[in-house]
Amino acid sequence: MFVREKVIKAILDSGENFMSGEQLSKKLGISRTAVWKHINALREEGYNIESVNKKGYRLAEKPDDILSSENIAYNLPTEFIGKKVIHLDTVGSTNDYAKEIGNKVSGGTLIISEQQTKGKGRLGRVWKSKSGDGIWMSLIIKPKIEPYKAPFLTLVAGASVVKALSNLGVEASIKWPNDIIVHNKKICGILTELSAEMERVNYVVIGIGINIKTIDFPDEIKEKATSLYKEGYKLSRVDIVRQFCIEFEKLYKGYILDGNKQDTLELCRKYSAIIGKQVYVIKNNKRELVKCIDINENGNLIVKEKNGEIQEIMSGEVSI
Ligand code: BTN
Repeated sequence: MFVREKVIKAILDSGENFMSGEQLSKKLGISRTAVWKHINALREEGYNIESVNKKGYRLAEKPDDILSSENIAYNLPTEFIGKKVIHLDTVGSTNDYAKEIGNKVSGGTLIISEQQTKGKGRLGRVWKSKSGDGIWMSLIIKPKIEPYKAPFLTLVAGASVVKALSNLGVEASIKWPNDIIVHNKKICGILTELSAEMERVNYVVIGIGINIKTIDFPDEIKEKATSLYKEGYKLSRVDIVRQFCIEFEKLYKGYILDGNKQDTLELCRKYSAIIGKQVYVIKNNKRELVKCIDINENGNLIVKEKNGEIQEIMSGEVSI
């Protein structure tokens, strides 16, 4: 662990209690001047560290908005998801970055960037990712599965996001296959990319974009997109990421180690925004009104067409 991380851990550990410069210097084996320098550097990063004469230092408030590795991984009750976080200021796309390092890092590594200059959405769309406006992250996982089993991981991710938000009091739902919506508007999108050979997966990159503070959306998506702030939810980005890691690991282990799809499917059904409703299915530029019946074992959408025929839809888009 670097000294910087040790300082953060020490002040997080001491909670509401003060730690004097001397205590910190002894605990960390560095000089008091070094302690002071680190504290100042952390303040510049945004940590609100209070210092009181003769008492020492303590965190004045929880560092809710700093998506650093230390804050996310601090006492995180997961085995490997989110245990390593790479926190960037700016990057083209966290998914592209994840693919560059995918072969070199361990499964569970999370890449988070404050800003993306070339954020990617599904179907070649652009994903607006302004600095500090949201959570722009990519999770690298290395499941020992055949490539055809990988698409289900997008449902695992969607179910984990919706469960994480629900744990924090947000009424969110899933619009199949992988949009998360709040009050009928999109708040989060997921873009899964795969590196594989014929018979085995090298790694999977699960890219997740959650709009947190965005107020102005471009005209083309204004009617359809929203952010947590816009919908009245003021949540900590750190809490959301931590909850996501916890929920994802549970469902992921279930699926990869035990072949358990049920827990994910149950969440997808429970939080579905479309089951039981009439929606438009859009495929190859055609738009058809259907009734959504269910999501089946393979994660495909089961719909009833106007002529009464039941169809299984594997990919495409749905509009409410
Ligand atoms: C969609 O709904 O179209 C998917 C959007 C996915 C956006 C996220 S933001 C983090 C990650 N990096 C990217 O370039 N895209 C994903």
